[in-house]
Amino acid sequence: MQKVIILGSTGSIGCNAIKVIRSLGHLKIVGIAAFKQHRRLADQIKEIKPRMVGIIDRNQYKALKAAGTRVPICVGEEGVGEMIERLDADILICAFASALGIHGIIKGIEKRMRICLATKEILVSFGDILMKKVKQYKAQLFPIDSEHSAIFQCLEGRHRKHVKAIILTASGGPFFKRSLKNVTKADVLKHPVWNMGKKITVDSATMMNKGLEVIEAHHLFDMPPDKIRVVIHPEALCHSLVEFIDASILAQFSYPDMRLPIQYALTAPQRRSSCIKHLNVSSIKSLHFFPPNLKKFPCLQYAYEALTIGKSMPAVLNAANAACVEMFLKGRISFREIPRIIYKTMALHSPCKGTIEDYRAAEAWAKQTVRRITC
Ligand SMILES: NC(=O)c1ccc[n+]([C@@H]2O[C@H](COP(=O)([O-])OP(=O)(O)OC[C@H]3O[C@@H](n4cnc5c(N)ncnc54)[C@H](OP(=O)(O)O)[C@@H]3O)[C@@H](O)[C@H]2O)c1
Repeated sequence: MQKVIILGSTGSIGCNAIKVIRSLGHLKIVGIAAFKQHRRLADQIKEIKPRMVGIIDRNQYKALKAAGTRVPICVGEEGVGEMIERLDADILICAFASALGIHGIIKGIEKRMRICLATKEILVSFGDILMKKVKQYKAQLFPIDSEHSAIFQCLEGRHRKHVKAIILTASGGPFFKRSLKNVTKADVLKHPVWNMGKKITVDSATMMNKGLEVIEAHHLFDMPPDKIRVVIHPEALCHSLVEFIDASILAQFSYPDMRLPIQYALTAPQRRSSCIKHLNVSSIKSLHFFPPNLKKFPCLQYAYEALTIGKSMPAVLNAANAACVEMFLKGRISFREIPRIIYKTMALHSPCKGTIEDYRAAEAWAKQTVRRITC
């Protein structure tokens, strides 16, 4: 049986990954980690019986311990790295909601684990460094994001020189056809297609999620920004497309269900039957594709700009966005202020190339700058 560690087990992707692993039957979860929800983690420990657990927030250690768990608990980001080091697992599912965990993933790459990556923020902030490690260790990195899973499948066995462009689809979010005037938190958190964590749901509403995915695609598929396009596809049945130099376009279709890309990240290039509903093609009445409105959703444009500038700018975009999303969710800024503050933060940054710690410092600077701009 292959052994699996899940970072972010208490989240939307983490919980779906647990379901998929159960249905596949040939994998065993040996390690799980969360950020701070100790009760949820304690329930998962009882249910899954892992060999080790990790919790990032040190303040929650005692509460987790008090819940009666006898499983060894690793604390903080270093603790998660230690868990990866000690467990000797085969597969690492990365589904934290932020770029925390980068050192753990690098450890997983060095141990030649199969890396199944949902956390796009890791590639946005540290893409150059991570992909260099992947190449150095000839590691297997499989995307979980549905769009990147689709592109990965369309590219399988094909030569990159034959690719003209990759085309990421976006559902358009809750405001595709609605004005952005007087938008409430409840409006933002009501995604028309996907049921996801709060951060990515807000990112979908601003279209920053697609911007982060453009940067993710650049690193995963080694594509320059001008060969990565975005189209709005409200039906969310086509999960992305690849255009080839001979004018052919390949696409991947399915009902929107994150269990499918999670399963493929775990089994690729093999395919296993699943409990996911099969798409009845004859039931599709129409499919629509529209260009994105960059004026209404400038975050997408800012992500292209950050990618083109490179160095520490994508990390600044990522951290400024995370800080804005947090402030929006706490009711401190309005929805329309999010892109304005990100833009101001990027304009104040002098990008530099560096190490993980340098990019982390740029992230910390961006978060501070957002706080300064908003107070
Ligand atoms: N949900 C989707 O359908 C979907 C699709 C594609 C890609 N993704 C990507 O997958 C990742 C996880 O998304 P999600 O929707 O599963 O998120 P989520 O439901 O909010 O869960 C996030 C997980 O990360 C932990 N977490 C919370 N705050 C964190 C922080 N500041 N830093 C690190 N970890 C934190 C949570 O722990 P606690 O429970 O202890 O707070 C939880 O285990 C994101 O990068 C997202 O962009 C998600």
